[in-house]
Amino acid sequence: MCGIVGCSGTSDAIHPVMEGLARLEYRGYDSAGISYRKDDKILNHKKEGKLQNLKDLLEDIKPASTTAIGHTRWATHGKVNDTNAHPHSNDKLSIVHNGIIENANALREFLKSEGMEFLSETDSEVFLNLLTLNFNKTKDLKQSIIETFKKIEGNSAFLILNKENHLLYSIKRSAPLVCGVNEKTSDVFVSSDPYALVGFTSKIYFPEDEVLCELDFTKANELVQFYELDGSTSKRFKIQEKEVKLDVVSKGKFEHFMLKEIHEQPELIKKLTKIYFSESNKEQLARIGKESFPYVHLAACGTALHAGLIIKNYLEKYTQMRVHSDFASEFRYKSPKLNSDELGLFISQSGETADTLACQELCAENKLKNYSIVNTEGSTLYRNCDENLLIHAGIEIGVASTKAFTQQVLVGNLLAKAFANKLSEKEVIGEFELLSDKIKNLLAQEEKIKNIAREIYQHQGFIFTGRGIQFPIALEGALKLKEIAYVHAEGYAAGELKHGPISLIDENMVNIAIITPDLYDKTLSNAEEVKARQGILLVVGEEGNKELEEMSDFFIGLDFEGLDDTVPVLTNIVLQLLSYHIAKLKGTDIDKPRNLAKSVTVE
Ligand code: AGP
Repeated sequence: MCGIVGCSGTSDAIHPVMEGLARLEYRGYDSAGISYRKDDKILNHKKEGKLQNLKDLLEDIKPASTTAIGHTRWATHGKVNDTNAHPHSNDKLSIVHNGIIENANALREFLKSEGMEFLSETDSEVFLNLLTLNFNKTKDLKQSIIETFKKIEGNSAFLILNKENHLLYSIKRSAPLVCGVNEKTSDVFVSSDPYALVGFTSKIYFPEDEVLCELDFTKANELVQFYELDGSTSKRFKIQEKEVKLDVVSKGKFEHFMLKEIHEQPELIKKLTKIYFSESNKEQLARIGKESFPYVHLAACGTALHAGLIIKNYLEKYTQMRVHSDFASEFRYKSPKLNSDELGLFISQSGETADTLACQELCAENKLKNYSIVNTEGSTLYRNCDENLLIHAGIEIGVASTKAFTQQVLVGNLLAKAFANKLSEKEVIGEFELLSDKIKNLLAQEEKIKNIAREIYQHQGFIFTGRGIQFPIALEGALKLKEIAYVHAEGYAAGELKHGPISLIDENMVNIAIITPDLYDKTLSNAEEVKARQGILLVVGEEGNKELEEMSDFFIGLDFEGLDDTVPVLTNIVLQLLSYHIAKLKGTDIDKPRNLAKSVTVE
């Protein structure tokens, strides 16, 4: 997801834009830039790499302006370099963009035939040049933006600044973009995430798709005006007035946000039960208990899907519901049979993942009821679903999701038991609190996991294996290692090893085998197959199990006593810590791994 921030008003716009970009940087950080109006010119500064590189550049320039737009990029088209960074500007206009222009190549050819020149490899510059061509013809910026936007295919959000005046324009289709106003100062703002505007605005507007927003700080009573593509006034926007407090997020005593977020999990789990069984929230689970669906279509991406696979397990354990789960990016292309008496269930930390949103839209078009298990209140997914189960993980800065995964799984457990009317407050609080204490004890043994990481981090290949409800944990453990340590790792159903992957096993391959009392014998034999082929065996299993301890090269014993549904949450904590410490030893950028973004708002 790219970060978009814009500001126009009576005072300095540079600081709010740069502060907003800093808050959004973790969502996309290939490059960053800012453009602003100065002495009737548009000035534009942009730099490859982290936002700090831009800040260093501006240190000498000391920009000052009351109208500015800024961008942090997660590259979709074109290399990561200064030229491809946003904003894209010329002497009349400057734009920033989040999304993909699917017909960019055809439009680029047309524009070249009209004599327009391109400096970058990006699709975003196509929008700038097409808008400039239209604006040169019509001299009417608002109409030109509408005409240009109509020609753009795909999901995109645009913010436009022009040389002539202080007006800001924004428009979007299936991409996050909000407008904000400060009613005291009349300053106006635009951003791809309300979080960037917290503390600057007193009101946030959520325009719907294909609504043109015109922001004018000189019109005290109409700081933001909304238009349909036919130029008529639009009423298609929602307003959020409640003051959102800024989660002042710091790493505290931890070296990385990811490690801090791993260590937050015990407290968050305890807080979760207090929230869900509080008087105000109890009714939500009671309401859900009255609902029933013959079929659940579950879609999510990455870590959220891994949580979804565990939630599928819970739904099928406690209810008669049949559950179809798939990667959101695959779901729509398999001709899913969607009936209006069925449920769409979407799991997402950000609530802005384009693939997941597209599945929710498809289910809504087919009149299914839509539930989300989501972390970000007010996100697009949150606003579009009929029922939202918030996971209360707090803001998750580490791009590699940890605490959100845990909270998603546990909320999914509550959901399954609520559907089945088997939600015993005493039992749930009992297990969740026990889990919390066990995680706390495990975190106290972090040094042991760190030492094992030191023994294995230089290996080139890792296969994570698990059976049943531990299979999604194997997938999740492999994903964590891939994304923060840049190491090739696979997650496999333990029983699948002998159907091919076992050919990879040799003295260089590390098999991280999750062997719990559940399906123990079969999973044990898979690990023995690895051992027989000199594979390096790291077992995550029940503490005190001598058989496991003796057969493995490295053994991490866990106390599962008293846990039932939440065993996978505990085993996953081991893998979170292991991937963290392997990445640390490899010296990668753990909180902002290369090529990644916290929220992928393009398909
Ligand atoms: C998690 O570690 C990854 N960064 C990624 O797989 C993420 O889970 C996925 O992009 C889905 O994001 P969401 O939960 O915000 O929808």
